[in-house]
Amino acid sequence: MTARFSSKALRDGLTTRFVGRRLEYRAVLGSTQDLARELARAGAPEGTVVLAGRQTAGRGRLGRSFVSPKGGLYFTVVLRPALAHLRPLPIVAALAMARGLEQVAGLSPTLKWPNDVLVRGRKVCGILVESDLTAEAVNHVLLGIGVNVNADMSAYPEIAAIATSAAAEVGRQVSREALAAAVLNELEELYLAVQAGQQVQDEWRTRLETLGRQVRVTSGETVEEGLAEDVDGDGSLILRRPDGSRVVIAAGDVTLRE
Ligand code: BTN
Repeated sequence: MTARFSSKALRDGLTTRFVGRRLEYRAVLGSTQDLARELARAGAPEGTVVLAGRQTAGRGRLGRSFVSPKGGLYFTVVLRPALAHLRPLPIVAALAMARGLEQVAGLSPTLKWPNDVLVRGRKVCGILVESDLTAEAVNHVLLGIGVNVNADMSAYPEIAAIATSAAAEVGRQVSREALAAAVLNELEELYLAVQAGQQVQDEWRTRLETLGRQVRVTSGETVEEGLAEDVDGDGSLILRRPDGSRVVIAAGDVTLRE
């Protein structure tokens, strides 16, 4: 049984200047991305957060759906970064999430390229970035984060083998408010660092459990196999094929081959 979500408790945990200072909580939404988009188009300030107790049409990367039952944390942050600093945003979100899970739940998360957050090899959090751009500028970016906090993922046979929850990993319920506040605090810090031209790649690379593994990467119709050697400055994956050649992959889905 999950306790009722308290927006006040979340607000009380914030140390941010602007992230989460406007907070829209709804018990149920189709997708937090949709309400966030509506608000962003209507001029919502940077850092506006839309958070839902559950989603009926949560979406994931590559057109997939994202299972979003009660007990999880589903939120979207409206950002307005400089065009030059757009690329690292998924990295910023993944690092903020990993740090938040460490602080609040005492977990030791790793990252799977490009930006899934894992605990003991199973996915606990997914990140979706949707951008509204022109050739010269960013209108807004919607940074969507979905975390299995207290939901029982074994109830979802289609993902039970590859997903876990923070609660299942620590053996107790985890405060969604404390976790959300910690992640938003970390997110603002990392976001401001990136906007100021600092790099966050080193911490990301260190946490990427994909590197050094034999993987299969699917990008649309294309499948590549080989050693995940490194990531480049843009966050693309550098794969060493069995014939020794190298390929750089900007987006895709990784499965381990060992
Ligand atoms: C993925 O793992 O493919 C990304 C999942 C992103 C899910 C979050 S939950 C909050 C926001 N609203 C959505 O509909 N999706 C993102």
